[in-house]
Amino acid sequence: MEKVFLRGESLSFHSEAYRKVAANIEYANIDNDIKTIMLTSSLANEGKTTTICNLANVMTDLDKKILLIDLDLRKPSVHKNYNLSNNGGLTGYLINKGDYKDYINNIDIGLDVMTSGRIPANPSEIINSKAIKNLIKEVSVNYDYILLDTPPIALVSDPITIATLADAVILVIGYSETEKEIAKKSVDSLKRVNANIIGTILNKYPMTKKNKYYYKYY
Ligand SMILES: Nc1ncnc2c1ncn2[C@@H]1O[C@H](COP(=O)(O)OP(=O)(O)O)[C@@H](O)[C@H]1O
Ligand SMILES: [Mg+2]
Repeated sequence: MEKVFLRGESLSFHSEAYRKVAANIEYANIDNDIKTIMLTSSLANEGKTTTICNLANVMTDLDKKILLIDLDLRKPSVHKNYNLSNNGGLTGYLINKGDYKDYINNIDIGLDVMTSGRIPANPSEIINSKAIKNLIKEVSVNYDYILLDTPPIALVSDPITIATLADAVILVIGYSETEKEIAKKSVDSLKRVNANIIGTILNKYPMTKKNKYYYKYY
């Protein structure tokens, strides 16, 4: 499988950047206390979903079991990146119950994906539910890392709630002055709930400046 892609297009020249992020996660996890990692950004289109899918893909090289869950219940798009149907998924599991494994897609050795499922009328309620907490607890037994995609933090409160469920948070920042300015506010709101921000990823860095991704370690 080509590991790094953007809407189906191969991005092999970016692999190195994603691998660095994966390696930094492993360093941050020296005490094995990081399992659930949330990715977020302030605004839409900063590259959260692209980054988390590609990160999940390269993390399989660590010989770890990865589960990627789409917790963006407003504009989910993980399923599009993997060409998966979005029937079932997380909201399907929460409504129909049963075995969560029936709502998971295997993508590659070591990589499973749970799509968002049908967009619910009450996303905040679902994100705040005990059922989500329980699901994360249950899947934790079977995976080394659980990656959580989220909606934009400056627009909805879901990521703040999700941050309280995650062991670590990575903030994606689109390369523009506004996005950098707003990112500071996002960091503040994450810190207010004691989120463990382990890094930021500067995304969409102009290609002419050589590196498209830049990972900063706190
Ligand atoms: N590093 C990048 N270089 C070029 N295009 C990118 C990059 N990261 C994301 N994109 C594109 O930007 C758009 C938004 O990305 P997406 O990952 O869906 O953002 P978000 O999940 O934050 O809303 C998509 O069309 C995606 O293909
Ligand atoms: Mg997204």
